[in-house]
Amino acid sequence: MTHVLVTGGAGFIGTHVVTALHDAGHQVTVADAGHPGAHRAPLPDTVAGAPVHRIDLRDRAAVADALAGIDVVVHQAAMVGLGVDLDDLPEYVGCNDLGTAVLLAAMARAGIHRLVLASSMVVYGEGTYTCARHGTVRPAPRAVTDLAAGRFEPVCTACGAALRPGLTGEDTPLDPRSVYAATKVAQEHLTAAWARQTGGTVLALRYHNVYGPGMPRDTPYSGVAAIFRSALEAGRAPRVFEDGGQRRDFVHVRDVAAANLAAVTATGTRTGWRAYNIASGRPATIGQLAAGLARAADGPPPVITGEYRLGDVRHVVAAPGRAAAELGFLATVGLADGIAQFAGAPLRG
Ligand code: UD1
Repeated sequence: MTHVLVTGGAGFIGTHVVTALHDAGHQVTVADAGHPGAHRAPLPDTVAGAPVHRIDLRDRAAVADALAGIDVVVHQAAMVGLGVDLDDLPEYVGCNDLGTAVLLAAMARAGIHRLVLASSMVVYGEGTYTCARHGTVRPAPRAVTDLAAGRFEPVCTACGAALRPGLTGEDTPLDPRSVYAATKVAQEHLTAAWARQTGGTVLALRYHNVYGPGMPRDTPYSGVAAIFRSALEAGRAPRVFEDGGQRRDFVHVRDVAAANLAAVTATGTRTGWRAYNIASGRPATIGQLAAGLARAADGPPPVITGEYRLGDVRHVVAAPGRAAAELGFLATVGLADGIAQFAGAPLRG
């Protein structure tokens, strides 16, 4: 039996990961800071029977204690989302990067060499696109003048022509476009340096847009599925930004938990650092998500507002092949079923 420490194990995704590990027969310990950005209710004493230790990863002594007897660390703890404003910046870097650095140093001291890192598709920035004349291109951030005029599709940086969005694979160059994204890239780089120096194994799971039961309610840190779901619960129509044609890959949280379970097992045989898209492989537009949720919740139909957020990218569509080939991970929850369940599932308070 493997003893796994799950950081952030009382959060939305962490809770599902702990449950999947427990159900598969692993011994699990949970460390969670109960950060107010993710937890409005007090932390539970246990998650799926695993004890919850209230630990801020910046606390070196507490982290060292929590690692006693641990074989594998599954590092989910992070501040996520776009945040409120730049006053959030030190806290993002503190939680996500200093916290990871303290964890890595303590793991090295304790001789623990296996790590699964919760990363994110935000490390890519815009996804991959092709221009008919220039081949694969990485568009620059969209200009305010274009967004304000309703020109939402990024264009070729060389010739200004329309682009075709393609599948974004793990070797796509990283291009973080927000503070959160920058802290996730730093986590990837810190863990890669740690793996080289310790000879350890790190599997970085780049989650695409995760949704499902237990998602936090609408906050400045929430993803779009929680925002739409919260609006519908309050009897309001989901507000779809841009023209609703922006594409994402929505992956159910139970599938994300299964990917973590597969990754924990794979840390026993793989060495070095490796990234994986964790996605359904079936992209959808934000307009489709909104319409599906509104229908399933029997709520008002979505409103397409034409608003935009400067930090947003247009399309990110995952190439899901590597996780299938190397971890044996395939998402099983289809979007129609997932949406139907999610429309009535409880959110976190
Ligand atoms: C989201 C998460 C990010 C996470 C990533 C992968 C946030 C803010 N973003 O990135 O942390 O790493 O998934 O799991 O948590 N939109 C609307 N109406 C709204 C809100 C958003 O139409 O009320 C649109 C946005 O303009 C955007 C799309 O929905 O086009 C997705 O937004 P969001 O879920 O916030 O961000 P992602 O970039 O997909």
